[in-house]
Amino acid sequence: MNIYVYGTGCGAGELIDTALDISRVAAFVDSSATGDFLGRPVISPQELANRPYDLVIVASRQAEEIARGLTELGIDPEKLLFLKNHFVPVDRNRNYEAARAVLGDAYIDKLQHSERLIRVPLWTQQERIEGPDAENDYVRLKTLEALCARLENVPGVIAELGVYQGSFARWLNRLFPERPLYLFDTFEGFDMNEAGSCDSGAGFLAAHTNTSVQRVLSALPQPERVHIRQGLFPETATGLEKECFALVSLDVDLEESTYAGLCFFLPRLSEGGFLLLHDYNNPRLPGVQKALARYEEAHGSQAAVPLCDVNGTLVIVGKA
Ligand SMILES: C[S@@+](CC[C@H](N)C(=O)[O-])C[C@H]1O[C@@H](n2cnc3c(N)ncnc32)[C@H](O)[C@@H]1O
Repeated sequence: MNIYVYGTGCGAGELIDTALDISRVAAFVDSSATGDFLGRPVISPQELANRPYDLVIVASRQAEEIARGLTELGIDPEKLLFLKNHFVPVDRNRNYEAARAVLGDAYIDKLQHSERLIRVPLWTQQERIEGPDAENDYVRLKTLEALCARLENVPGVIAELGVYQGSFARWLNRLFPERPLYLFDTFEGFDMNEAGSCDSGAGFLAAHTNTSVQRVLSALPQPERVHIRQGLFPETATGLEKECFALVSLDVDLEESTYAGLCFFLPRLSEGGFLLLHDYNNPRLPGVQKALARYEEAHGSQAAVPLCDVNGTLVIVGKA
């Protein structure tokens, strides 16, 4: 059977780690990547269209876009299997222009907004999060948008520990254009010593090496506000001991790094600020809950709200 996997990121890595032996994969398909992934060639979608195939497993979050591209290339839809089918809040209205002329901008702006399933007050002047990011994890992104309005008078800088390709950092940078943004990551993947001790799969690890500082910076709208701290945390936090943080995204998947992040950031989180502990309710990454339990045992707990987003973020509130 000729099996192709579309994607060379975390979705593909997880598929190989959990359900599909790499020896069964003829090649990976990716519109941007070249070379190889987990020892298998990476080909373009065009090349796929010229090969015989029995099953194309789409292991990417960009399912809509990929489906469209593959249809244009004449790939048989019967042979596609989509692994990601996140909640997509679709607005049925495709063209507002004619209605805008009749009903006016204010009415249409309000209508466009109320079509969204989760409403964020219109009184904030910030940009709204739209597009594929919001469709992949609508609750996570819309919560960030709503929290942003609550932080107007909370002092401190913004930080993310665990940046990967910068898809969440992009929104942090965009929603807080006036504040410095600290980005902590190796930008080369996980610390192998830590990852090895957690039995992390080869696909999971390989997918996370697929990034670079340059790639992240070029995806950011305001790179001049960004301070890159490349290397292994917590060493990369040296010199920031006196800093205070209004918002921190903590997303490093594994226990020891999560624990180090909690120990550094929580005491420095401004009163009324937020730390977003990603993957808190993700059964695939139990180290995150363990890290918080260890922290709370030593320092006590503080107010926190679990989200019903894709990977179960916990929002921890900064205390006085
Ligand atoms: C799940 S990814 C982050 C995803 C990103 N927050 C997003 O939403 O797109 C986890 C990242 O944590 C980084 N990481 C894990 N432990 C780290 C540590 N101790 N120091 C620096 N980076 C670390 C990895 O390199 C990886 O890029």
